[in-house]
Amino acid sequence: MGSQKQAVVLLSVLLFLNFLLFSGADDVYYEFILQEAEFTKLCGTKTVLTVNGSFPGPEIRARRDDTVYVNVRNQGRFAVSIDWEGVEDSIDGANELIQPGTNFTYEIELDDEIGTLWWHARSAWAEATVHGAFVVLPAAGEQFPFPAPTSDHPIVLGEWYRQELTEGIVPGQADAYTINGHLGETYGCNDTSYQLQVDYQGLYLLRIINAVANETMVFAIAQHSLTIVGQNATYSRRSFSSSLTLAPGQTLDILLSANQNVGQYYITARPSSGRLNTTGIIHYTTSTGPLV
Ligand SMILES: *[C@@H]1O[C@H](CO)[C@@H](O)[C@H](O)[C@H]1NC(C)=O
Ligand SMILES: *[C@@H]1O[C@H](CO)[C@@H](O)[C@H](O)[C@H]1NC(C)=O
Ligand SMILES: *[C@@H]1O[C@H](CO)[C@@H](O)[C@H](O)[C@H]1NC(C)=O
Ligand SMILES: *[C@@H]1O[C@H](CO)[C@@H](O)[C@H](O)[C@H]1NC(C)=O
Ligand SMILES: *[C@@H]1O[C@H](CO)[C@@H](O)[C@H](O)[C@H]1NC(C)=O
Ligand SMILES: *[C@@H]1O[C@H](CO)[C@@H](O)[C@H](O)[C@H]1NC(C)=O
Repeated sequence: MGSQKQAVVLLSVLLFLNFLLFSGADDVYYEFILQEAEFTKLCGTKTVLTVNGSFPGPEIRARRDDTVYVNVRNQGRFAVSIDWEGVEDSIDGANELIQPGTNFTYEIELDDEIGTLWWHARSAWAEATVHGAFVVLPAAGEQFPFPAPTSDHPIVLGEWYRQELTEGIVPGQADAYTINGHLGETYGCNDTSYQLQVDYQGLYLLRIINAVANETMVFAIAQHSLTIVGQNATYSRRSFSSSLTLAPGQTLDILLSANQNVGQYYITARPSSGRLNTTGIIHYTTSTGPLV
């Protein structure tokens, strides 16, 4: 009996040491400033609520099992709370509003979540511009369950309104759609296009987030097949598609193989209702590619 007990204790100690040595989970800290910022898009200039002046907001990056602390300081005019889409654990204070002039730190304990999550303001008027990607990479020493990509790129599909959105306004249908904040060429307003440079024969992990509140979005890249490898913060069985359909709030992780002739290809994002569309551009770099 005695030696069995000793063996159990020894095993527990070994397991604990193993946990200490190999868990490698980190604490990750972010500071978000809710503030108004002015943007010129769709032939007009307006002020919107942002995190740190950017649309979409800053990206969070962590690894599986990390704990992420996000200190949100509200320097705007209205009370706001942030939702963490795809996080399984309940988060203290998630239902509380952060009043103007105050701050609150969300403590997000990651567990099995992997791939692409996102965050957004809870109220509809603020969510339109206060949102961003939340990337969860494999834990230290852990591999992707698919060929390792050359690099990864969050692609946030969003919407833009001509009217000013403030508390009390219920946004209706958007006036335009955005790819990482860019409206592209189709609206006739000299807006910028989202551009992604790829190396010929490179492999890219695109993290597509449908941050459009009420529209299913269709995403495609001309002449490229896309390999789905994950969705909604989990890996998925591999599947192939020339166009992707994303429900509101859905995320898809896809592999893009830059295996076409060196050139430029349109990215398109449009609501499934067919109204309007937004374009971006994939540019192949010619440094390593064949001459065409
Ligand atoms: C947001 O801005 C604050 C103040 O400039 C800065 O300390 C913080 O690092 C920024 N956060 C991100 C995520 O860029
Ligand atoms: C507010 O920010 C300060 C300074 O960064 C920090 O020490 C404090 O814990 C934060 N308060 C809350 C409630 O998050
Ligand atoms: C989305 O739909 C909900 C419920 O119909 C509505 O309250 C909300 O304002 C809509 N949001 C946008 C951005 O249209
Ligand atoms: C369009 O945008 C470009 C680059 O931002 C700028 O140089 C040009 O003056 C703009 N043209 C018009 C008509 O606004
Ligand atoms: C992914 O999340 C979106 C938004 O919550 C949901 O509509 C969709 O059904 C989810 N897909 C899967 C496979 O869970
Ligand atoms: C996108 O919209 C433009 C302008 O409205 C139109 O010319 C083009 O055919 C549309 N493209 C797609 C793929 O729907």
